[in-house]
Amino acid sequence: MIQLLQETIQIAKRAGARIKELREDNALTEDMKYGVELVTNADLISNELIKNEILRLYPGHQILSEEDTGRNYDMDKPTWIIDPIDGTVNYANGHYQAAISIAYAEGNRVRVGVVYNPFLDELFYAAENSGAYLGVQKIHVKDITELGTALVATGFPYLKDNVPEIMGRLERVWPKVRDIRRLGSAALDICWVACGRLQGYYEASLNAWDVAAAKLIAREAGAAIGYFKEPDPAIPDCIQCNNLIVSSPRIYETLKELLM
Ligand code: IPD
Ligand code: CA
Ligand code: CA
Repeated sequence: MIQLLQETIQIAKRAGARIKELREDNALTEDMKYGVELVTNADLISNELIKNEILRLYPGHQILSEEDTGRNYDMDKPTWIIDPIDGTVNYANGHYQAAISIAYAEGNRVRVGVVYNPFLDELFYAAENSGAYLGVQKIHVKDITELGTALVATGFPYLKDNVPEIMGRLERVWPKVRDIRRLGSAALDICWVACGRLQGYYEASLNAWDVAAAKLIAREAGAAIGYFKEPDPAIPDCIQCNNLIVSSPRIYETLKELLM
């Protein structure tokens, strides 16, 4: 897996450099998907770059990407789970919290995860059972015991239905924690729990590509990971994503109770 990890890092860095360059050159165009989601030309360019590089190295592998959906997926096959830009709204508005997210899954488990923020030049990565890293530094969650000292991030869906349910959760959590953040990239939110910049993250509506790589990184960094609603047993664990909680282990149960 080490060679595959190195290859994935190189691909994420190339895609990261490309989306940074497109923004710096003022070469962005904007469009809408499904009537509610912003997508830029850079999302599609990054997707093509990543996909082509992977298929050149591994022609038989399956690709599950945000910008390339619509097939039936067989998670028993070697599969790459890709978000070509996580944090598109940040990206299109000139913010720095956006990343390339690439996970490699085999035998129904994510084996390698890479999340690269080209604007801060921060590379988070992990291979299964080998620890998690930010650059050359091994990372760990922050070991806290009191929910009241936790900085917790969350996210909101593009489709603005279910408002009372989402606000209800926020209303229960915010008074019990140090503060709440909405940083705009689920993949980076989870990596930030992994390296201790945040101590908790939760979000209801996600897709596998938002979180597959970051969940492995967080797990390898010692985070507790679970769901505040019973996950659908028909969905393989490696692409399970909705109602996700990632946190420092000793506040996990208290946070989960508030979210249920
Ligand atoms: C979104 C971001 C955001 C999260 C949304 C995701 P995108 O991904 O991760 O933080 O709240 O649920 O859809 O659209 O920027 O790739
Ligand atoms: Ca995303
Ligand atoms: Ca995306």
